[in-house]
Amino acid sequence: MELSTAFCLSAAFLSILLFKSLVKLFFFSFPSKGNRQLPLPPGTMGWPYIGETFQMYSQDPNVFFATKINRFKTIPFSLSSTLSILFKKMVTCISICTSTVRYGSMFKSHILGYPCVMISNPEAAKFVLNKAQLFKPTFPASKERMLGKQGIFFHQGAYHANLRRLVLRTFKTEAIKDIVSDIESIALSCLNSWEGKLITTFLEMKSYTFNVALLSIFGKDENLNEEGLKRCYYTLERGYNSMPINLPGTLFHKAMKARKELAQILAQIISTRRKMKQEHNDLMGSFMSEKAGLTDEQITDNIIGVIFAARDTTATVLTWIIKYLGENQSVLEAVTEEQGSILRGKEENGEEMDLNWSDTKNMPVTSRVIQETLRIASILSFTFREAIEDVEFQGYLIPKGWKVLPLFRNIHHSPDNFKEPEKFDPSRFEVTPKPDTFMPFGNGTHACPGNELAKLEILVLLHHLTTKYSWCIKDAKNGIQYGPFALPQDGLPITIYPKHNYHSNKTWRPTNN
Ligand code: HEM
Ligand SMILES: *[C@@H]1O[C@H](CO)[C@@H](O)[C@H](O)[C@H]1NC(C)=O
Ligand SMILES: *[C@@H]1O[C@H](CO)[C@@H](O)[C@H](O)[C@H]1NC(C)=O
Ligand SMILES: *[C@@H]1O[C@H](CO)[C@@H](O)[C@H](O)[C@H]1NC(C)=O
Repeated sequence: MELSTAFCLSAAFLSILLFKSLVKLFFFSFPSKGNRQLPLPPGTMGWPYIGETFQMYSQDPNVFFATKINRFKTIPFSLSSTLSILFKKMVTCISICTSTVRYGSMFKSHILGYPCVMISNPEAAKFVLNKAQLFKPTFPASKERMLGKQGIFFHQGAYHANLRRLVLRTFKTEAIKDIVSDIESIALSCLNSWEGKLITTFLEMKSYTFNVALLSIFGKDENLNEEGLKRCYYTLERGYNSMPINLPGTLFHKAMKARKELAQILAQIISTRRKMKQEHNDLMGSFMSEKAGLTDEQITDNIIGVIFAARDTTATVLTWIIKYLGENQSVLEAVTEEQGSILRGKEENGEEMDLNWSDTKNMPVTSRVIQETLRIASILSFTFREAIEDVEFQGYLIPKGWKVLPLFRNIHHSPDNFKEPEKFDPSRFEVTPKPDTFMPFGNGTHACPGNELAKLEILVLLHHLTTKYSWCIKDAKNGIQYGPFALPQDGLPITIYPKHNYHSNKTWRPTNN
């Protein structure tokens, strides 16, 4: 879910706000009376229009961007293809900018016209994420419109707490224990369809994570219009990070149309379920229960939001894992050995060969690979909050209305927290990280409720992938693209083939080599 990063990614949004922010800046420069004695966090606020965004663009090795910067002012009035190029540059630039933030610091800046405080200090990040009464989530209106205003991400207080309770009921450990074998079937059928082919890892992983999300949200509902849902999501995602210009032909327009269609598909499911009057033990069932007290619109917005949050995130992490394992033979061997020994154990004891919950809790090597990938890839590199009132923290003032960005990636890549941070080394997680230094799923009020499910589906896929298949990365480029999270170049094309001891009749013969 790059919902959070999205805030600053839209150039049209930016341009419209340039004017407004000038006005705002004027006020923000003067913290309100009561706290005037407290200093603002250090850092230069930069040039008033776009603040340090200008400097961060000029750090882009690609000179193109720096020379095009003046076009910003005319963006909303032009629809040329330059837009999408500019847009992609901005995504890159923002990551460059945040990567220069010193570790342990709190640092004031501007991002695209908004005054903000960037935080790479673990305690401060935790403080911001846990003090919901002081810091609220903040998103651009276009993202809210696209995902649905009633979505869990955008809210606080009683409504948010109610939604969170309902979502956690479906995704907490006790609830997902029962779907291990269903997830396993999905994993096996995906792997089977990839066998012997050149695949784009990211796209195929999206298909896997989408099916797992549908399973947990709709159970095995036969009335599910899966094709329709898939098609709409595809369009929605393509438009999500586009310019929010709602004119026929734009990606944004198409995405908004797809969103409407999604709502219709969901309305159909809701009405069929009401007619059938069956109990459903899935997220939809939980949202529809009388006690939940949700309107149809609230249900729809949140189903759309949860699928969105579940899919690309988990697929991106899986793609990075495939890359890192593909590049490090010794780590791959350790994972394969751990997974193979689970199979051998089951066979020796004459047990069912299916994975069960306790198997997945007994995969320490593989789990460390997941943790290390979450750290090093830090796919949600930061999130956004906004100060609800003037806040004092560590002797500094964060004025009301300022954006606050906990920078997860910086915290995860600081040598103070992780030795040789740029090295992929799962064994570092043999020791528990220092408190608050590892937050791949966020922390506090809005922390990811899907984290157990994400880890479970990754483990299940890796179990079958490593014991039954080998893969090779097509051309090992080290480039990164954004789609919408940082992703290996071209979505990581790989070829997958069955291992010699895994025959096409799909029986697995354990070997000891
Ligand atoms: C490895 C995959 C995933 C990662 C790295 C991840 C990361 C995150 C993070 C960092 C947040 C907090 C954002 C913030 O504080 O602004 C979050 C929120 C959320 N995630 Fe995930 N997530 C993943 C998978 C999932 C899955 C599988 C689901 C659904 C089953 C899910 C559902 C959600 C929801 C609903 C929220 C919003 C919670 C709220 O606002 O209270 N995520 N996720
Ligand atoms: C899960 O599988 C393990 C063997 O891998 C077995 O020892 C255990 O009894 C199984 N647990 C359940 C609840 O079936
Ligand atoms: C693979 O990972 C191990 C453990 O982290 C490390 O010692 C080794 O240098 C890595 N090898 C390569 C080729 O990166
Ligand atoms: C938040 O961080 C604390 C300390 O690092 C940790 O104990 C807690 O489990 C985290 N909460 C969530 C929801 O991740």
